[in-house]
Amino acid sequence: MIETGLAGKVVLVTGGAAGIGRATVERFTSEGAQVVAWDLTEGAGIERVDVTDEAAVAAATEQVVERFGRIDVLINNAGITRDAQLAKWKDGELASTMSVAEFESVLAVNLKGVFLPTRAVVPVMIRQAGGVILSASSVVGLYGNFGQTNYVATKAGVIGMTRTWARELGRWGIRVNAVAPGFIATEMVAKMPAKVTEGIAARTPLGRLGRPEEVAAVYLWLASNEASFLHGAVISVDGGMVIGT
Ligand code: NAI
Repeated sequence: MIETGLAGKVVLVTGGAAGIGRATVERFTSEGAQVVAWDLTEGAGIERVDVTDEAAVAAATEQVVERFGRIDVLINNAGITRDAQLAKWKDGELASTMSVAEFESVLAVNLKGVFLPTRAVVPVMIRQAGGVILSASSVVGLYGNFGQTNYVATKAGVIGMTRTWARELGRWGIRVNAVAPGFIATEMVAKMPAKVTEGIAARTPLGRLGRPEEVAAVYLWLASNEASFLHGAVISVDGGMVIGT
């Protein structure tokens, strides 16, 4: 039997209202964890916290500590896409480029929105002598992807931050790892044309897109006692897909 050791643990999930985040909230809750979910809109079990807002993140972190006395697991899941080609060339001329707004908005959520919650939570974890930090990278952070200069930069950046934090925080008993999901059937992927998602499924050795629960299950294992020597790693959850092949 797998003993997750997660019953009663305090788990914070960013972007917990939809997709992989929602599945993660549900899975940790079913394991008996006390789960706090942040997202842009308030709702049942969701607190309104924009992960790009330094003051809001600091205040919300303090509230979690006041309420539960500790934070055992942080899952940096919130993320957005704003896809565009760097320079789209059509009929012999420049048709469009990726705008600075598209570039910066994705950096704000996917990079700063990982940096701020982690920076807020780490002192809590150092004081309690341990914790787990998990972040959402992506298969595209490993291989690049057409039309995703901004997004790929952030997902590769998450891997860099994960490896840096593994070096800085291991001494405090804080384990830091990332997951690199392939294409998972959520709202984010639903925005892609069906032709593209069908092509992705065909190029995935398991022959289909992933499900949010399949990423949640990996977060659960990474946060559990079973993964106690796993640190600074990037775990692919992608049905065997290698982009570009
Ligand atoms: P989603 O779009 O279904 O859900 C993301 C959630 O994050 C939404 O509830 C959204 O409101 C929230 N969010 C966005 N900006 C926020 C902000 N500033 N503050 C707080 N919350 C915010 O996305 P999905 O597909 O569930 O992805 C979750 C994570 O996994 C993202 O980081 C994404 O980049 C990553 N990922 C997803 C893949 C996929 O195929 N769906 C593949 C690889 C990585």
